[in-house]
Amino acid sequence: MRLMALRKIITLPSRKLRAKSEPVGKVTADLRALVDDMFETMYDAPGIGLAAIQIGVPKRIVTMDLSKKEGETDPRVFINPEIVWSSDDTSTYEEGCLSIPEVHEDVERPARVKVKFLDLDGERHEEEAEGLYATCIQHEIDHLNGVLFIDHISKLKRDRIIKKFAKAAKRAAE
Ligand code: NI
Repeated sequence: MRLMALRKIITLPSRKLRAKSEPVGKVTADLRALVDDMFETMYDAPGIGLAAIQIGVPKRIVTMDLSKKEGETDPRVFINPEIVWSSDDTSTYEEGCLSIPEVHEDVERPARVKVKFLDLDGERHEEEAEGLYATCIQHEIDHLNGVLFIDHISKLKRDRIIKKFAKAAKRAAE
């Protein structure tokens, strides 16, 4: 038996967040252990979605839990997730990110997407997502490509946020 471990979440201005993650070849015991750690870290934060790169592992893995009721869980794993279709209609959500703490901004994205992925048994799935699910899976797949939600807002706002985190990191290092 292996105990789950809480991992450190990487935050701005770390360059690691800009890395492009590699596809997962095979679902191994190590990969399952990594997913366990991702869930523990995500629930502890707490957050509703986490990409492996946010704990420093550049692999195309996403964990998510969009359950709304107190005390209920709906842990979901997406391995090598890919958007294969996006709707023309869009929706706007106020997004946040565990790697950009305390920042929330409206982001406009396709309202519905079709996502293809593997589960922990290596089985293929294709699902249509809408609402928060659509927003969240697009946000997390962005992470796998080194893209952050602040890349979808105005340059002025983005630069201000990046500058704030760069300053804080500098202060912490002094
Ligand atoms: Ni995020």
